[in-house]
Amino acid sequence: MNKKKGFFIETFGCQMNDLDSRKISGLLVDQGMTPAVSMDEADIILLNTCAIRDKAIQKVYSRLGELKKRKAKNTGLFVGVIGCGAQLEGADFANKTGVVDLITGPQKISHIPRMLDRVLTERVPLIDIEDEPSPQPAEVENILRDSSFRAGVTIMEGCDQSCSFCIVPFTRGRAKHRAGERILAEVKKLAESGYIEILLLGQNVNSYQDPSPAGLSFAQLLRAVGEVPGIRRVRFTSPHPMYFTHDIIDAINQRPTLCNHVHLPLQSGSSAVLERMNREYTREIYLEKAIALRASPRRIALSTDIIVGFPGETEKDFAETLAMMDEIRFDSIFSFKYSARPRTAAAEFADTVDEAEKARRLRVLQEKQELLQEANHALYVGQVVEVLVESPARTRFALSGRTTDNRIVNFDGPNYLIGSLVSVKITQARANSLQGELVAASELELAAGS
Ligand code: SAH
Ligand code: F3S
Repeated sequence: MNKKKGFFIETFGCQMNDLDSRKISGLLVDQGMTPAVSMDEADIILLNTCAIRDKAIQKVYSRLGELKKRKAKNTGLFVGVIGCGAQLEGADFANKTGVVDLITGPQKISHIPRMLDRVLTERVPLIDIEDEPSPQPAEVENILRDSSFRAGVTIMEGCDQSCSFCIVPFTRGRAKHRAGERILAEVKKLAESGYIEILLLGQNVNSYQDPSPAGLSFAQLLRAVGEVPGIRRVRFTSPHPMYFTHDIIDAINQRPTLCNHVHLPLQSGSSAVLERMNREYTREIYLEKAIALRASPRRIALSTDIIVGFPGETEKDFAETLAMMDEIRFDSIFSFKYSARPRTAAAEFADTVDEAEKARRLRVLQEKQELLQEANHALYVGQVVEVLVESPARTRFALSGRTTDNRIVNFDGPNYLIGSLVSVKITQARANSLQGELVAASELELAAGS
């Protein structure tokens, strides 16, 4: 294989895909390949795709259309489609576009360098979407990270639930849990290299059960990660409400390094819809968990995912979701129009909600949330918050970062602060972000003394 070739991975979808792309990049660099700075510069292009909604698949087809034109000019161009979208669409991506050289799913990332080598040598397209038999997630030693202060760490992959709308169990396969000692060794290594924020990742993180003799539960793992010297912030995504036990709340209260933010997908506020979604909890059970979170001594921010227009969702069901939003006052939400996915149980359900009605419900829900967030954020004005500076801001401000409870804060300051924790006094609140001013160390001492 021509090792001089530059590769570029375009990532679609979630944080798991993002981390997978970093892992694949590390594996390819270990093979002697070079990352290209952009798609234009690359001879090997990999699209790491998502399958969660139909729109995600359509985006890939449209990118493949563009790449087809590019390949007509540069016949040596290699195009691979990997990730959940590839697992779902399989050969269709190749057959319908005539541009794809490699198709493989998210369970196969450690095989990608070998597959690439084979296709480049034999010049025959390769499709491998068999489930990976290995009982544990792939271990990747050298992950090519794009941040020097924040790192995603896999704790489990796949999902044993069967939510009737969800494609993930079909694409990522059954749950595989990583040994606790391996997770902790990776976190220690990251901390020694200067990383201060860790994001523990998995499709159903709190179902985590350490397969090694230590047998850590999810809450025990959280505590252990939060105790690694040098680690200042620990987040995790996504937990399932059914496995959301009180020991997780206790851990957050006892370890200040565990961020006081929980993302707990609700999906719907109607027990009838939740039952058809096969979510295994009712409106009341979710509410109990939310109340327990809200009653915690340390204030814990709560965000969620909501799907509107699931088959059979009546106006009354939807009203129950809205009522739940009033009751819980989520700190933020991700909301989606239901999209039928092949092979899932709900794809067969009758009584579908039409697109215009889904769009209307989404709008109503988002407008409601905006008002709730505005009211909630207004309470921050005047407070001094700790912010991990993440990037230059996309606004008129110079910098952007997040509080431990996951609020975006924009403020002015020098670029060298990126990657560090600073204090910011909030001066203005918007629905989706806060604005503030950097507090000088001397002002902080004054505040502490007063
Ligand atoms: N527990 C998983 C959920 C991933 S999907 C994880 O964190 O990996 C993220 C969100 O997408 C879900 O919580 C759900 O709200 C939404 N979603 C999943 N399938 C969907 C579908 N078929 N249509 C619309 N939204 C969907
Ligand atoms: Fe999907 Fe439900 Fe698992 S949303 S990832 S099947 S918990």
